[in-house]
Amino acid sequence: MNILILGGGGREHAIAWKVAQSPKVNSIFIAPGNAGTGNVGTNIPVDLNDFNSIKTLVVEKDIDMVIVGPEAPLVAGIYDYFINDSVLKDIPVIGPSKAGAMLEGSKSFAKDFMAKNNIPTAAYRTFNSSNIDEGYDFLKSLKAPYVLKADGLAAGKGVLILDNIEDARNELTSMINDQKFGEASSHVVIEEFLSGIELSVFVLTDGKGYVILPEAKDYKRIGEADTGLNTGGMGSVSPVSFANSEFMKKVESRIIIPTVEGIACDGIDYKGFIFFGLINVEGNPYVIEYNCRMGDPEAESVIPRISTDLVDLFEATAQGSLSTVEIEFDTRTAASIMLVSGGYPGNYDKGKVISGLDNVNNCIVFHAGTARDIDNNSVKTNGGRVLAVTSFGDSLSSALDLAYSNVDLIDFDAKYVRRDIGFDLE
Ligand code: AMP
Ligand code: GLY
Repeated sequence: MNILILGGGGREHAIAWKVAQSPKVNSIFIAPGNAGTGNVGTNIPVDLNDFNSIKTLVVEKDIDMVIVGPEAPLVAGIYDYFINDSVLKDIPVIGPSKAGAMLEGSKSFAKDFMAKNNIPTAAYRTFNSSNIDEGYDFLKSLKAPYVLKADGLAAGKGVLILDNIEDARNELTSMINDQKFGEASSHVVIEEFLSGIELSVFVLTDGKGYVILPEAKDYKRIGEADTGLNTGGMGSVSPVSFANSEFMKKVESRIIIPTVEGIACDGIDYKGFIFFGLINVEGNPYVIEYNCRMGDPEAESVIPRISTDLVDLFEATAQGSLSTVEIEFDTRTAASIMLVSGGYPGNYDKGKVISGLDNVNNCIVFHAGTARDIDNNSVKTNGGRVLAVTSFGDSLSSALDLAYSNVDLIDFDAKYVRRDIGFDLE
């Protein structure tokens, strides 16, 4: 098979790395990819919002399957574009239809879906310019801290958590009336604050059957002890100690099954990943958010733990036979540490030469923001999150020790690493 993977981050490198291990695969193309994916397959520059260019690529390269990494093309309807095109309609796209991607693309859609299907989540209401006064009243009915969420995609920045009601009122006004997040905040979900520890659970579903993938925990803040600004993620570990079988049974019965049944009941075409952003509130799981894709940096610890051929899993997804599939895992712990550019998530420089990539041992280096410089045969930084170094261990601490010892062998100007990934787990 010839496979096209859309995206260019660590998640897509992890997917490409795993797909490359399948005996079914002839060629892998990654669009746009990065220096790491260029070692696994062929990178092709393409604008992921330009579906006509993607079609040209699929036809030219005789692609048999498309795997969509990030959410934006899914929310924009790439699955539907394929289904409705006479040339592309039989080429499977791994990722939900536009209607399914609404679980990530619209917070109010996701909350209404959860309410309708009795899926545990924070109490909420949605407001817009026509009922903003009710929004101010709703804030009064809640206790601090106040959680305000832009309804639409806002590049991961659309959630505000505010300690006092004055700030919450002002932000509500700014989101709705002053379009703080553009059109994405024309509608705002206000919800109850939930207190607990978060984790990420993933399933691959064909819309009826599903397989549960290893769970993971990511570390979003730039600073140690979860302080400072939010980032795309500074590292991840899998498994997560508190996600024991009792907890995961609750996740499956209260959240996964009603979600998959709800999707089927609404007649939504969904053949892809569902990412459940969960919070453990005194032993009970609640959904903080849905995403319609794998997580990043979770993919960099979860995908290496999947022993089953990923292409077999994707084929079963496309054919609707996932309920007959058994999935196998590596039972060891995987820890993945992100190396980022100094200054990230604020301003940072690109184009710094990366050294030491050939010195590592007992780890997998997934590239995120990297580019190959053909002129002097080097790999350079090309983004905020640069590399993810993943190692296995029989315990969390041994996985972390091995990952960090390799992190220390790789260098670039102004490299920054969080040294406490996994600090809150046993
Ligand atoms: P989201 O984009 O919905 O995942 O929200 C971003 C982050 O805000 C989450 O990962 C949580 O850490 C936090 N968050 C969102 N909603 C809530 C909530 N209802 N209670 C507590 N924290 C929340
Ligand atoms: N790690 C969180 C995300 O991928 O959205």
